[in-house]
Amino acid sequence: MSLENLQHNINHVAIIMDGNGRWAKMRSHPRVWGHVRGTSVVSDIVQEADDLKIKSLTMYAFSSENWSRPQTEVRVLFNLLYKFLRKERERILKNNIRFRIMGDVTNLPVQTQTLISQLEQETFYNTGLNLTFAFGYGGRAEIAFAINKFIAENPGKKITDEDLSSNLMIPELGDVDLLIRTGGDHRVSNFMLWQIAYAEMFFTDTKWPDFTVTEFRYIIEQISKRERRFGAISATDNLASNIIIARENQKIIRVQDV
Ligand code: FPP
Repeated sequence: MSLENLQHNINHVAIIMDGNGRWAKMRSHPRVWGHVRGTSVVSDIVQEADDLKIKSLTMYAFSSENWSRPQTEVRVLFNLLYKFLRKERERILKNNIRFRIMGDVTNLPVQTQTLISQLEQETFYNTGLNLTFAFGYGGRAEIAFAINKFIAENPGKKITDEDLSSNLMIPELGDVDLLIRTGGDHRVSNFMLWQIAYAEMFFTDTKWPDFTVTEFRYIIEQISKRERRFGAISATDNLASNIIIARENQKIIRVQDV
């Protein structure tokens, strides 16, 4: 499939990159090898999302629950983030990508925190792909954050849906259109709970280190074909009130009769 042929209507893709540990174990390697291999997949998918002109790509790199993993694994994940940022900085700048971290990075090594804030500042005015890594992130904590922020700024006022959306960690990312989870499990694991309210979900058995650009494009293509109704109905299903909806016991029943 050539790049030009893939038309899509997806603005915001969120990805839960799961299956690294199992991928490595199946190959008799320590779990962290899966994270190492998974990091190069992150590079490929970022490039592809950019090529496909997706507006925002949000990747779950480290959840607030991941703190309970063995120290070595946590350290490897920190190192991989650091190395990724060093390696990809040039490409991120060249491609006009806006880079941000969403979550709590205060426990990261100082040099990683510095690198993150440098890159966030350097890409602040970039208008291309919004690339966000959720790191030290939890969806419930983000909702609590938004509510507390609103209450602090608007004491005594009731919070609305819109208020909550506009007080999230990175409000301009907006709702997620498509949530992809690799690794075979069908759950959302505290990821962007507010923003996925109307997201299409795609679960694949592929473990993250085996995930390819081709599968990513396939998913985008499949999801673009789905009709998203946001709780409404299809326009073609809108019935006039005199339309016959059934015939029962030789009686005609119209919309207006029910
Ligand atoms: C889940 O796999 C994956 C993670 C906890 C981390 C994801 C991190 C990467 C892909 C690499 C580093 C990221 C960046 C942004 C450079 P798991 O270990 O839970 O897999 P399992 O379910 O098979 O145990």
